[in-house]
Order: sequence, then C-alpha cells, then structure tokens
Amino acid sequence: MVNLILFGPPGSGKGTQSANIIDKYGLIHLSTGDLLRSEIGNKTPLGMEAQKFMDQGLLVPDEVVIGMISSKLDSNPDARGFIFDGFPRTTAQAEALDKLLALKKTAISVVLSLEVPEEELVKRLLNRGLTSNRSDDANEDVVRARIVEYHNKTAPVADHYAKFGKFKKVKGEGTVEEIFGLLSNELDTLVGQPA
Ligand code: AP5
Ligand code: MG
Repeated sequence: MVNLILFGPPGSGKGTQSANIIDKYGLIHLSTGDLLRSEIGNKTPLGMEAQKFMDQGLLVPDEVVIGMISSKLDSNPDARGFIFDGFPRTTAQAEALDKLLALKKTAISVVLSLEVPEEELVKRLLNRGLTSNRSDDANEDVVRARIVEYHNKTAPVADHYAKFGKFKKVKGEGTVEEIFGLLSNELDTLVGQPA
C-alpha cells in the first residue's frame, strides 16, 4: 500500500491537490475536515459538538477525529492506499495513525508539505469565504486563529515524520497545475499509476 499525508496550513491547497492525486493514482481520499462538515450537515451529535470548535478556528478534540479515521480505514479493506488530508494535525493524532496503520501491516510512505506564505493563505481563504458557506472562512480573525492553531499544534507533526526521513517540502505557490506537477514528481516513483 501507499499511504500519503498531504500536509500544510489552512488554505495551502490540500483539498485541491487531493482531488488531482486520487484521479491519477487511485488512492482513497480521507479528509477529516470534509468528514466533520458532513457530520455537521447531517446534524449528528458529533457534528454539533465539532462545530463549536470549527466555528472558532480551533482543532476538534483528538479522540473525535481519530475515531472517524479508524472507522474509515476499516471500511476500505481493499484500498490501494490512502491520502490523508488535514489529518494528522497533532502529534497525538500522528502516533495514533501510525498504530492504526501498523495493525494493518502498513505505514505512512511519505508526507508532502505544501509551502505557502501566510499572507497568501489568508487571501485565498477570505476569497473563498465570499462564496463558500464555510463559517470558518468568513472572517479574518477566525482564518488567522486557524493559522495560529497550525503553528502551535500541527507544525510539530512535521518533526514526527522527519525523524523517520519521510517529510518533504513542496512549493505550494503557483498554478494548481504547476503544483500538481511537483507533487507528481514525488509520487510517480513511489506510487506508480493504477493498472
Ligand atoms: P479543514 O477542512 O481540514 O480545513 P483547513 O486545513 O483549515 O483548510 P482548507 O481545507 O480550507 O485548506 P486546504 O489546504 O485544503 O486548501 P484548499 O485546497 O481548500 O479543517 C477545518 C476545521 O475542521 C479545522 O479548523 C478544525 O476545526 C477541524 N478539523 C479538521 N481536521 C481536523 C483534525 N485532524 N484534528 C482536529 N480538528 C480538525 O484551497 C483553499 C483555497 O485556495 C480554495 O479556494 C482553492 O480554490 C484556492 N487554491 C488552491 N490552490 C491554489 C493555488 N495554487 N493558487 C491559488 N488559489 C488556490
Ligand atoms: Mg481542505
């Protein structure tokens, strides 16, 4: 199996590039942000609880997202591999993911980190906020709070994978196609294309 973490701050293009990667390489996309928004849309108790954190730009508690990922791994036993988007976001989540994958006799293959300057992130997210109905894109304070959470809690996840030589930076500025080209350079040898 090939298991990829697409890493980077809010607005760095993880969701945009995941869509390209799943098309080309046939991996299953697991986005904790999308899963949480679907719970909110369905007004489940989990969704209602998560929304309180998301509306403030804060991370949802680890056990909530780890439980969601665990059940998604179990429900895709024949996957060729997974692309994790927006997860893991804390060192505790990274350790839990390593354990879940080890139980399935697999591991993270590589972490590709999209590098984008902070002002460009804010610009992209506020711009999307004009048309999306994502409450966390709607005001600059919340957008900046998400970036602060990233620096405080998520950036250390890079060190966790760097220790194992699995962390690679990729330039995240430019056109979507240019950035996909850079990601493909990293993935072609590692994944190969589906038969
Ligand atoms: P989540 O949904 O994961 O959001 P995020 O990471 O904060 O940010 P985005 O998804 O908005 O950014 P992205 O990197 O995917 O970029 P995108 O491709 O969309 O999380 C939301 C919330 O859920 C969190 O704040 C937290 O509360 C909770 N949560 C989720 N996972 C969690 C976890 N594991 N633990 C705890 N809590 C969790 O692009 C952004 C915009 O830029 C788009 O408009 C796009 O069109 C544009 N764009 C993309 N590429 C380019 C480009 N090359 N040039 C110009 N514009 C571009
Ligand atoms: Mg996203």
